[in-house]
Amino acid sequence: MKIGVAGDHAGYEYKNRLAELLTKKGHDVADYGTYSEVSCDYPDYAHALAEAVLRKEVDLGIALCGTGNGMAITLNKHKGIRAGLAWNSEIGRLVKAHNDANVLVLPARFISYQMATRIVNTWLSTPVEEGRHQRRRDKIDIQ
Ligand code: RB5
Repeated sequence: MKIGVAGDHAGYEYKNRLAELLTKKGHDVADYGTYSEVSCDYPDYAHALAEAVLRKEVDLGIALCGTGNGMAITLNKHKGIRAGLAWNSEIGRLVKAHNDANVLVLPARFISYQMATRIVNTWLSTPVEEGRHQRRRDKIDIQ
């Protein structure tokens, strides 16, 4: 699977470690920044990742910032992006099964790296549920 990753300075370390882990697992990882720990603005990287997902340059995205909220708020401005914030693996499962999140958002300053890997693994391996969940997802976009 082709996976895009992005984060601001607060998400930089986990982003890099997750990118390395996913590459080892055989995924094709594209890194949309940031590329250093220097303080930066999360929307710059959220927009780059959202555009890559919408252009189908990557199948899915993983975004990180301190709380995850800046990334999630910005990503969800893009029609067609369903960015979901998860801080434990059950939420990682539900955000895929119910919301079909095409971008997983992680609050890097509030979870351990081990928890981040658990959430990512769960989200990647969970199938999307159809039926009533599809009906609800169909109502997300404003026409
Ligand atoms: C950076 O200090 C922090 O504001 C950012 O990573 C994020 O938490 C914003 O939502």
